[in-house]
Amino acid sequence: MNAVVIYKSSTGFTEQYAGMIAAALKCPAVKFGNAGDLSQYDLVIFGGWVRAAKIVGLKTALKKVHRQSGQKMVVFAVGANEQTAENTHHLKTENLKEGNEQIPFFYLQGGFAPEKLNFFLNMMLKNVAKSIEKKDAANPGSLSKEDQEFLTFFRSSHNDVSEENLTEMLKFIRESTGEKTF
Ligand SMILES: Cc1cc2nc3c(=O)[nH]c(=O)nc-3n(C[C@H](O)[C@H](O)[C@H](O)COP(=O)(O)O)c2cc1C
Repeated sequence: MNAVVIYKSSTGFTEQYAGMIAAALKCPAVKFGNAGDLSQYDLVIFGGWVRAAKIVGLKTALKKVHRQSGQKMVVFAVGANEQTAENTHHLKTENLKEGNEQIPFFYLQGGFAPEKLNFFLNMMLKNVAKSIEKKDAANPGSLSKEDQEFLTFFRSSHNDVSEENLTEMLKFIRESTGEKTF
């Protein structure tokens, strides 16, 4: 199977996972902007970081993969929230709609590196945190688990990337492609 991992990463955590997946599957990992024509690949694994519940780059990636001609796609997202079935389901339903619901999807917990964020993202992040804090002030104790996790996550820099987080995704790819060399 001719596979490729393409990814969008802002502070490096998605890039780290892309490298680990590529190493495990013995295929290349390429930054999305440098990916070019993808038609030579049987399997395109796209990974994007999560920004305000949206997977960055996914819309464009979906247009570049020709699933109707048999090209296979797997999507993974890297975010702040815990790697749970609930968070995975939420992100999947928010991002894979209108005929894309069947695409295999995995959510991986990334990390937080404030020193690598650009000015625009820093502002955006502060605004997300502010809006959650406002909700809490208006209605104390009413924050969802996801919102609470978000506030905890952005208190300090950390790296939650691990091989273990990839187990389910790699197992799925190996089993569904029947690829012995992976
Ligand atoms: C502006 C901004 C918004 C974010 N929104 C979310 C979010 O909605 N859900 C989430 O799980 N993580 C969110 N994150 C956290 C990032 O997805 C997380 O830090 C991820 O590991 C970044 O991956 P990267 O290093 O590949 O860019 C946000 C981060 C920033 C800077």
